[in-house]
Amino acid sequence: MPLQPGERKQQWVYRQIVSAIESGLLRPGDSVPSTRELAARWGTSRGVVEVAFEKLGEEGYLQAMAGKGTRVNDPLPSGFLLAQVSDVLPRTSADSPEEVAEAADVATAPNPVRVRQPFIARLPDIDGFDIKGWRECIARAARLLEPDVMGDTDPHGLPALRAEICKHLAASRAIQCSPDQVIVVTGIRHAIDLVAKVAIPQSATVALEDPGYAGAAAIFHLRRCATVAISVDEKGIDVAQLASTQASLVYVTPAHQAPTGVVMSADRREELRAWAAARGAWILEDDYDSDFSYETAPPPALKSHDPAGRIIFCGSFNKSLFPGLRIGYIVAPPALVTPLANARAITGRANPVLDQLALIEFMRSGAFLRHLKRTRQTYRTRRDLVFHELRACGWRDEDFQGAHAGFHFVLLLPSGVDETEACLLSKDAGVVVQGIKAFSRSTNGHPPPGLVIGYTALTDSQAKWFARKLALALEPLRRQSEPVSSGA
Ligand SMILES: Cc1ncc(COP(=O)(O)O)c(C=O)c1O
Repeated sequence: MPLQPGERKQQWVYRQIVSAIESGLLRPGDSVPSTRELAARWGTSRGVVEVAFEKLGEEGYLQAMAGKGTRVNDPLPSGFLLAQVSDVLPRTSADSPEEVAEAADVATAPNPVRVRQPFIARLPDIDGFDIKGWRECIARAARLLEPDVMGDTDPHGLPALRAEICKHLAASRAIQCSPDQVIVVTGIRHAIDLVAKVAIPQSATVALEDPGYAGAAAIFHLRRCATVAISVDEKGIDVAQLASTQASLVYVTPAHQAPTGVVMSADRREELRAWAAARGAWILEDDYDSDFSYETAPPPALKSHDPAGRIIFCGSFNKSLFPGLRIGYIVAPPALVTPLANARAITGRANPVLDQLALIEFMRSGAFLRHLKRTRQTYRTRRDLVFHELRACGWRDEDFQGAHAGFHFVLLLPSGVDETEACLLSKDAGVVVQGIKAFSRSTNGHPPPGLVIGYTALTDSQAKWFARKLALALEPLRRQSEPVSSGA
């Protein structure tokens, strides 16, 4: 690869190494020859090669390993530049075999949401997790393993864990519940599945938010439920629309609607409770990411006021700690505690005791709260870095919807802008974003166009760098929609 006219030697060295990586000559994890060796090989000074290495390190191609030289990074930056988005939503509401198969595909498809994938990283930041503290909790938990606890397969979960969950929910979600109402499960998906099995009759109709979480739709379709899509507006789910259906259950995300980020308003909450009480229907509240609230105290959970006992609440440590943990919980209304616990016992018995013991240690020692405080700060900083870059390119605060909490916000596109074109332009610039349409089950122009910006599981420099790239990619669309000035 010859030196190009005007090209500096360090740029040439940089190109040599990138080309070796991109052609597969150097593979992720491979050792790279030392700067001394390369300088000698290419007839240049060591300083020139060091400058190139520094740039390659900043861009994520190389990683210096203490005492072990330098290696090609794994994953490579191209791993997140070229990611494909395929978050598919079943679109119809019947329960034909084709649709059940489609739902099963969605449920088993590899999750396109991944850490370090700008901007589909709607996940906790595993790199920032206190792994050392967690390991210590596992070690302490292992010392607590005694015959009694080793034989415990209570489908509700260990009592001490349920007590810690109640304490946390009282403080952070204003839910007053007793450990008897809590059932430990492997996550929110598991909670939805158990509810679909026992709370509603076979082939019942379930109402889902539109746009909404595809995973919930897939689970209900696997259970052969018919689903109806109910619009979400700036106040949350449209209860008037819901009232015209025969739904036995409605699935909602009131604290930070998935994906629009809207908080359900107080009047909608009341209407929803009244609808469920009058109809004898269930409300399934998915509280997936409200442990991370950036501006104010989190709004109380819908479940915090449930006089009719119609609200089933579920939350997840897979979201607040790390996805591979697989521990979540249900807070069930009295009428559903036993049926849900029985279904849990029949289909999976209980969560592993060692994991539960470790989580008890993590919560009791204060490590959980410290984790939430630290992580909140990290995510907020990351979100603000993205804002900063977008604002610098003319986006306004009103364009950021649902940024008060969680792992993502929505960048509202000016009306008239084509969301698909915005996604394609971003992709061409190496930034993968999901449009709101990808979460939508209707095709009637609702909801307004927007891009889901998942920022939590990135590094700060990724958040900044890719926000700049995104802003530049969207500039022609943003400009197009600016009012034409009448001139002086
Ligand atoms: C809205 C929502 N609820 C629930 C889940 C799944 O939670 P869990 O991993 O605890 O099953 C997700 C995503 O993974 C989600 O986006």
